[in-house]
Amino acid sequence: MATDTGPGGKMEDLDLFYEQVKQVHGRGLWQTEGTAKKTATLPYIWKYQDFRPLLFKAAAMVPIELAERRVLVMANPGITSDWQATSTLLANLQIILPGEVARSHRHSASALRLVIEGTGAYTAVDGEKSFMEPGDFVTTPNWTWHDHGNDGDQAMIWLDGLDVPLVQATEAMFYEVYGAEQYPIVNPDDMSIRLYGGGALKPTWVKHNQYFSPLLNYKFAKTYETLKAMAEQTDGSPHDGISVEYTNPMTGGPALATMSCFASLMAPGLHTKAHRHTGGTIYHVIKGKGHSVINGKVFRWDEKDTFVVPSWHWHEHHAESEAVFFSYSDSAVITSVGLYREEALEENNGHQKIEGNFEPLPVPERAAGVQQRREPPKRD
Ligand SMILES: [Fe+2]
Ligand SMILES: [Fe+2]
Repeated sequence: MATDTGPGGKMEDLDLFYEQVKQVHGRGLWQTEGTAKKTATLPYIWKYQDFRPLLFKAAAMVPIELAERRVLVMANPGITSDWQATSTLLANLQIILPGEVARSHRHSASALRLVIEGTGAYTAVDGEKSFMEPGDFVTTPNWTWHDHGNDGDQAMIWLDGLDVPLVQATEAMFYEVYGAEQYPIVNPDDMSIRLYGGGALKPTWVKHNQYFSPLLNYKFAKTYETLKAMAEQTDGSPHDGISVEYTNPMTGGPALATMSCFASLMAPGLHTKAHRHTGGTIYHVIKGKGHSVINGKVFRWDEKDTFVVPSWHWHEHHAESEAVFFSYSDSAVITSVGLYREEALEENNGHQKIEGNFEPLPVPERAAGVQQRREPPKRD
């Protein structure tokens, strides 16, 4: 006897109907959980003191020729389907030893570097070397040939930011290895800094109609000097302190088409007011110590740590000493398609109620759905 379900018809009829739709690889939209999808990205912090010894271990155990890039991924424990920091971005740590070369390749994902320690290494992009120092923000625009080499006498470690998950989601990922270890050097070293590093001055004879900045290296010394000069005149943003965006000097747009990149300076004792916005953000502490409150939880950070504020999570920062953040997010994309929104916390004078401290999450035996390879790949 069929059960009467009211105006929608008999339950058995409905089940039969759903089965018929399923058989042609369809679903009733009303069967899905709707549009209020929860984010998988968790607020999280990766301590540099945990990763640094592991990077040196990797350098001793994994030859760079096999790894191609000797990189440890900071994997968000909320995302079990892959190793990535947020739903759209990667945050990785890379080490390169003196004399090593990370061979040339290119990909449709864009990449950035934020140098953490060491000197004497360079990134070469389309035949131009840019030498890197701590705090430098280095761009590797999509589909440019790039390799890294270390001509110095100490290891260099940097943060790699990439938009790989975003590009993969659009099924637009391409990757190619160059036919030789290094792409030929065709430009003088650091030419882009001389051409495009003049701040508001841009060369009139260059037509650069690209989605990305032609400036390969935004030197930290200059960024810091700019931030300090601004701090003499203003308190800056109530949410970020003295905060600047790294822009494309030819257009004023974001430095990379998919990633908005920022530097912020916070004076000792500054406690910013909470806000939330779309655009999951990865923060790297260039300088200083303090804590951030993310959705009511306290995340303590020290120099060189990296943490994630997921999209639409309340966050505020408290600098215990002078602090400088580098941060990057996918807001370049979401702003350009009308998905950016922001809200300031009104209650409690703009500060969240503290509900506890961050605790590292236990590590599952094996993340579901992620293929793990024990040996680095064999290369000819
Ligand atoms: Fe790369
Ligand atoms: Fe923010």
